[in-house]
Amino acid sequence: MSDTPKILLRGDEIENLREIDVYVDNGGYEGFKKALQMGSDGVINEVKAANLRGRGGAGFPTGVKWSFIPKDEPVKYVAVNADESETGTFKDRLIMETNPHQLIEGALICAYAIKATAVYIYLRGEFWDVAHELDKRIAEAREAGYLGENILDSGWSCEMYTHLGAGAYICGEESALLNSLEGYLGQPRVRPPFPANKGGGLYKEPTVVNNVETLSNVPWIIVNGADEYKKIGTDQSTGTKLFCVSGHVKNPGVYELPFNTTFRELLFDVCGGPRKEGTSFKAMLPSGGSGPIVPLTDEVLDSPMTYEDTAKLETIIGSASLIIMDDTVDITWVASKVIKFFRHESCGKCTPCREGTYWLDKVVDRIMAGEGRERDIQLIDNVAKNMQGLTLCALADFAANPIIHTIRHFPDDFMQHVKSDEELAAAGD
Ligand code: NAI
Repeated sequence: MSDTPKILLRGDEIENLREIDVYVDNGGYEGFKKALQMGSDGVINEVKAANLRGRGGAGFPTGVKWSFIPKDEPVKYVAVNADESETGTFKDRLIMETNPHQLIEGALICAYAIKATAVYIYLRGEFWDVAHELDKRIAEAREAGYLGENILDSGWSCEMYTHLGAGAYICGEESALLNSLEGYLGQPRVRPPFPANKGGGLYKEPTVVNNVETLSNVPWIIVNGADEYKKIGTDQSTGTKLFCVSGHVKNPGVYELPFNTTFRELLFDVCGGPRKEGTSFKAMLPSGGSGPIVPLTDEVLDSPMTYEDTAKLETIIGSASLIIMDDTVDITWVASKVIKFFRHESCGKCTPCREGTYWLDKVVDRIMAGEGRERDIQLIDNVAKNMQGLTLCALADFAANPIIHTIRHFPDDFMQHVKSDEELAAAGD
């Protein structure tokens, strides 16, 4: 683990790395210059060969996404997803605060590869201070000749802007993000057409939407090559990942580790184990509220934190925002909080999500108030299962997860809150 090169947090010990001169003195913009020599196809093929997968959560192959952009369209865009709205996720902010030029360089390489005319960095409304800082750094990049007309005599011109949202979770969903950028209500669009396709992107033009962490890998890949990158992690999950750990561990924080690290290594060796003496780990939300909750059994702890291995555990690594709970936690209480969050954040466009989150929240509230009955558990399980796969975006699936998986893995936590029919009959209810 200690031999793995730092890719995303490299140079985090260097003072003032945020400033362009310091960044350039430490190898900054070498990847961009090399990309201009490689040409568009060369860059896309290198990123494809590295098997860099989308770090927003879905893990879609980045180079493949770039290759979907039609070459003959005159107007194309890059939209950087810096919304970072997933609960427990705080990695993109760290990159933007500590090494903003790494993101700017990665976004520029992507923009050059698809010959985009502009890059928009979409940040959640609460990140106004980060946006302000990025604006300064973008101005530095323009001053240095990396943005604007005929960049470094390449014949290619591109601009870069930040854009602040208004703090809605749904605007992290790529098509709602594009709607919001265009000034419309932040609601998902029908896909296909996908953003990469004509008709599906920003102002209907082909658009690459990539997460901050995804793009921040790209300068390293271009400088060091796909073969070096593939030496880290596993075949299907290459490179390193930023893991955000919060909850009941001794040392919460953001850690950069290769993908093949196990949950046990992260939670015990890096994070120091359970926060309080005499407690043990009980459960984990591995991808914030959106990932199915899992009990922290030995099997889970010994599993590598890869896309493929977490799928075997019937969960996801997603954005790798691990919320850890010890054995003092009632998982029903967790499920009640998560469903409340999704009810609040549902944009209301699709009926199964709008109505489903409302009813799940209402019935779970009843259960938490001690007024639930045993068959309410079946009721919410049924409602949750009928929300999945029926909506324009994945928010309804995410909202259903805490209910379905808490009932599956922690039935006793639910049972302790409800009354059986016999108890209710005895109480005359
Ligand atoms: P998705 O699997 O639908 O799409 C992933 C990406 O691949 C998208 O950019 C999509 O446009 C592209 N794509 C897929 N098929 C394509 C095709 N045939 N042609 C062209 N492009 C194609 O996943 P989605 O809904 O974008 O993201 C879900 C993930 O987001 C979840 O895994 C969740 O963990 C994560 N998430 C992350 C948050 C954060 O703050 N980082 C917040 C909420 C969810």
